[in-house]
Amino acid sequence: MNLRLWNPERARRSRSGMPAALLLALPLTAGFAGAESAAIRARQGMVVSQSAIASEVGAQVLRDGGNAVDAAVATAFAMAVTHPTAGNIGGGGFLVWRPASGEPLAYDFREKAPAAAHPEMWLDENGEYSFQIHHLSHKAVGVPGTVAGLRLAWEEQGTMPWERLVRPAVELARDGFPISHGLAGSLARVLERMAPYPASVAQFSKDGTPYGPGEVLRQPDLAGSLERILENGTAGFYEGETAELLAAEMAANDGLITLEDLKNYRAVVREPIRGEYRGYEILSMPPPSSGGTAMVQMLNILEGYDIARNGFGSAANMHLMAEAMRRAYADRALHLGDPDFNPGIPIDRLTSKAYAEDLRATIDPERASVSSPSSFEWNTEGSETTHFSVVDKDRNAVSLTYTLEFGYGSGIVVPGAGFLLNNEMGDFNGAPGLTNERGLIGTDPNLAEPNKRMLSSMSPTIVARDGELFMVTGTPGGRTIINTVMQTIMNVVDHGMNAQEAVDAGRMHHQWLPDQIRYEKQMFSPDTLSILEAYGHRLSETEAQGAAEVIVVLRDEGVLEGGVDRRRPDGGAAVHDEDPSGN
Ligand code: DON
Repeated sequence: MNLRLWNPERARRSRSGMPAALLLALPLTAGFAGAESAAIRARQGMVVSQSAIASEVGAQVLRDGGNAVDAAVATAFAMAVTHPTAGNIGGGGFLVWRPASGEPLAYDFREKAPAAAHPEMWLDENGEYSFQIHHLSHKAVGVPGTVAGLRLAWEEQGTMPWERLVRPAVELARDGFPISHGLAGSLARVLERMAPYPASVAQFSKDGTPYGPGEVLRQPDLAGSLERILENGTAGFYEGETAELLAAEMAANDGLITLEDLKNYRAVVREPIRGEYRGYEILSMPPPSSGGTAMVQMLNILEGYDIARNGFGSAANMHLMAEAMRRAYADRALHLGDPDFNPGIPIDRLTSKAYAEDLRATIDPERASVSSPSSFEWNTEGSETTHFSVVDKDRNAVSLTYTLEFGYGSGIVVPGAGFLLNNEMGDFNGAPGLTNERGLIGTDPNLAEPNKRMLSSMSPTIVARDGELFMVTGTPGGRTIINTVMQTIMNVVDHGMNAQEAVDAGRMHHQWLPDQIRYEKQMFSPDTLSILEAYGHRLSETEAQGAAEVIVVLRDEGVLEGGVDRRRPDGGAAVHDEDPSGN
């Protein structure tokens, strides 16, 4: 079946002005297996995540009458068990909530620096910056935010009993679940990094021998921690046995987090960043994420070009996107950080149409700009985070991205408590004035300070049209997150792709410095890449960028389309409907 035929909404969405028959004749520029991709459909509700098991936990909550926040809370706790690279209770993240009626909100449960943190805390005994201390030590661990954030969102928006939402995770941890091929490989690869931490080795291997696919992973200590959360809510994590185990692990290993830091942690409700792209309303994460601000800035720039007419994957579009990315990422490095410590962030200006117009005037349509060889570059960031999207039968929506930073975070499991600690402090700049040509950065807005949140790129995003829900999207991928999320939106809005095609389509990335376009291997034509080189771009290839999990609402058909990212294993959409075809 040719999916372009049965989706009238899509033909209507096309801005090319071409009749559908002509569109059908056009070859797809890129996509998995070179074929068009069927999107999963549902009428009532859907959860799309990187863990099919956890998606099903969330969908069952929807079937039992829960709303999107209920399902998100259950999915997030389940992923802390089934997707240990990034699902977590020892990390942090962001949740964007758009109710069918009422005001959207952004829940910020980003980790915080402990009270004893300071900007020079990652210098070694010789006063030299140490990557090891910054990213892979107990000093890399931020005060976790996930439990407080899920609890706050549930208190404000949830409808089902807390116990009902946490219990599936307790059972998955206690009784175990079958290890997939993907998880078996990932656990085997991380074993060496976990070797210094006996509790980590015990939890994720058989006395140092990797698990094979199909074997059952049981995590009894994690079940105990989840049970304390089930019974006592936030206090079940930030106080009492769990908190004591965490603080003891810190005290024994030069870590900084104390019982006081844990007790003082609070999640925060913030105003989402709002933008508008070709009549679609964009809602995304404000600082301490850079995501919403940079994405709206880029979309504002790109709105001035006929992206649909240029065509997906054309050199013209890739060039314009790279130039928009270059400019937004430069502003990101210069201006963004924790808003509670940087009161003057010029968000209104950065996200204004007028500023975008000024920036557009600096773009030559056939010549790459040069990123100023100033001292800014990127931090080293991990590539494991996870995103999921939820829509319920009333069209309330949740977009949630959370992380441990690196895959499996610090690699440190808290002995007796069974959960992994993040290494999110690595998202702070490494030291004042550190900025150098090798890629380190030391600008002020994102230096470590007591109780400060580190800058993030996570961009859980919701798109609306005419006041109604249109799309829920997000992805992992470190600094690439913002660009991947933007491309999923452009793929649907400009190129008329369905949810699955929008996820499958090839992705590219530019982040100011290094001054290069990184593109997904095999997804763009060599001819196109040659044109980009002729424009003056430097190119580099990557295997895969991100793992976007997307839901699109086809309003006229009353249907939800799900797009599951097949770049990483184990993902899946689960639907509320009894008839999973959505018919
Ligand atoms: O908050 C951030 O932007 C990073 N710590 C996220 C890391 C990440 O996405 C790794 N992902 N795949």
